[in-house]
Amino acid sequence: MKLEIFDNYEELSLHAAKEIISIVHQKPNAVFCLATGDSPKLTYTLLANEARESGVDFSKAYFIGLDEWVGVPPTNPGSCHYYLTRNVFQPLGIDVTHIHLFNALSENLQNECQSMDKTIRNLGGIDLMLVGIGMNGHVGFNEPGISPDLYSHVINLDEVTQTVGQKYFNETMVLKQGITLGLKHFLESKVALLVANGEKKAGIIKRALEETISETLPAIFIRKHANGKVFVDSAALGQKQPEATL
Ligand code: GLP
Repeated sequence: MKLEIFDNYEELSLHAAKEIISIVHQKPNAVFCLATGDSPKLTYTLLANEARESGVDFSKAYFIGLDEWVGVPPTNPGSCHYYLTRNVFQPLGIDVTHIHLFNALSENLQNECQSMDKTIRNLGGIDLMLVGIGMNGHVGFNEPGISPDLYSHVINLDEVTQTVGQKYFNETMVLKQGITLGLKHFLESKVALLVANGEKKAGIIKRALEETISETLPAIFIRKHANGKVFVDSAALGQKQPEATL
């Protein structure tokens, strides 16, 4: 695993955007799995700007959804579906036939999981998985205690996730379950990039970098990834920002 430390969130996001662009340059039909959440938001803005200004072509690339809140419709601005559409798919002009997201309203969520796993297999695997880290160390909705041997699955959300997750919604939500790619997808992706910024992530990042690898901290498995990268800003490492010089 490679750790890269950036001075600030902007630098981190710029490098994460460049990472995505370098992959689509090497492989125009690459398969991307991009997380939602606050951490990669600026990455997607910079990615869209760069794609527009430099004419980077994403039309042959494929996009896989990492996770979704069970029971939340895609029209809800707090859903992962809505987020990805607004922040990634619309700005990059991705055709719907190249987008595969979980239907978290399905009456048969097991089928959703199986069909997602099959889609990923048929596409030849995920080239880049870009993830954030939850306050409890989750990746997607792989909550503490989850086996690293699982592919897509439905999971009861940890209390931390249920509480922190409220920040994405305009109204109070009941967030009991999630549907998610598994850590097995994460470990099998050709490149895994974890991004974390800000002081509030310092505690969990320290644990992810230092603790013994175990199922209690799902994000820690990035240290087992053959091509795992962790991008943090100095605040997420618990370092103070240098004073600005006048
Ligand atoms: C959320 C999502 C994850 C996300 C993580 C961190 O609950 N399920 O995919 O990466 O938590 O979110 P944030 O970047 O907002 O801190």
